[in-house]
Amino acid sequence: MEFKRNGIAEIQGILRTALLPGKKRGKTGKGRIRLLCVLFSLLCLFFVLFLTGCESAGKSKEKTERNADSIQSDSEPGEDAGKTASSLVIGFSQLGSESAWRLGNTLSMERAAKDRGFSLFVENGMQKQENQIASIRSFIAYRVDVIVFAPIVEDGWSNVLQEAKDAGIPVIMMDRVINVMDSDLYTAYVGPDHYLEGVNAAKFLLKKAEEMLSEEDLSGEHSADEASSEALLSNSAMTEEDLPDRKIRIVEMSGTEGSSPMISRTKGFHDLIDRDGRFELLETLSGDFLRSKGKECMETFLRKYPDQIDVLYSHNDAMTLGAIEVMEAHGMKPGRDIVIISVDGEQAAVDLLREGKINCVVECSPMLGEAVMDLAEKIVTHQDYPRITHPEEGCFTEYDDLSHLAPRGY
Ligand code: AHR
Repeated sequence: MEFKRNGIAEIQGILRTALLPGKKRGKTGKGRIRLLCVLFSLLCLFFVLFLTGCESAGKSKEKTERNADSIQSDSEPGEDAGKTASSLVIGFSQLGSESAWRLGNTLSMERAAKDRGFSLFVENGMQKQENQIASIRSFIAYRVDVIVFAPIVEDGWSNVLQEAKDAGIPVIMMDRVINVMDSDLYTAYVGPDHYLEGVNAAKFLLKKAEEMLSEEDLSGEHSADEASSEALLSNSAMTEEDLPDRKIRIVEMSGTEGSSPMISRTKGFHDLIDRDGRFELLETLSGDFLRSKGKECMETFLRKYPDQIDVLYSHNDAMTLGAIEVMEAHGMKPGRDIVIISVDGEQAAVDLLREGKINCVVECSPMLGEAVMDLAEKIVTHQDYPRITHPEEGCFTEYDDLSHLAPRGY
């Protein structure tokens, strides 16, 4: 447990000491009686704290009323004046540390909690749902004020969230969403709109496609043929006959199977691309959001489709960096031989965009700590709060002037 401030553990330590046989502690009979008195007082104190905790956690649940977009409290703001900054205890189940994005996200949570004087207990799920479920159960047992979790996958959370609900502990989903029948099992969501990220990736490709086809420069066996660039540019009016013989061929590296960014980034992208006859998807492989697996996927793509790939759509920067390494090892020019679209916006990817090795980086911000802490405080002190909060996110492309882009911080 990475609990940073653990009053309970301290009490347990004192109790353990008090319960040791007198000889071991080198105490006399008198000393032992004194210790038993201390022990009794501590037990009383612990009991009182426990009851107070039960009551306030229960209150926070009772007093909120949910609707689709925002939640209204039926109590006066600041009513629970004692339950603010310094006393707030948050249990945070982070899903892992698979990418620079994830590390930036954990840091953002830690900084925001520290700035407000909140106690943040961080548990790393190490990419395993069962670890996250165990962490959430431990937070319930410790009766934290709020549970925050970044769910690794969408399914399989109902039981543990029902347990949190029964204990009266509000739950904030951060970064990713879940699939539960009863949406009352979580209190609110703070995180990106992953569907929009897929759409942004597709929008860039639609623009780039015009340039690729009009240049008639699809390399290797695929020179862009007889179709006139005029017909290509007026894509909406295109018929089957207008289409070039040679389509723009895409390979896709997706994130962790069953995770909401993987599902939504796929859907957002394909909702736009699949209905456009100029494109052909060669294959999608999961790279699990990991650089090492991004390398493996790219090796496979190059082996199976030599000289055929026009575009790589990668669901995150970590996998993209791995893929670029492989392309360069094969003597290719990433960004030119293969158009690369990536998601996240970490510094390393933005640098490669500036160098022309990546063509588009769709932003997905990990800096969610401030919004999460705001929300936690509002929920616990019965203020109105939004049920869904999306950070503002953009899209950086080779067509943009990036000279004023601030350092990314992750
Ligand atoms: O859920 C957000 C995704 O998870 C980010 O795109 C990726 O880098 C991280 O691993």
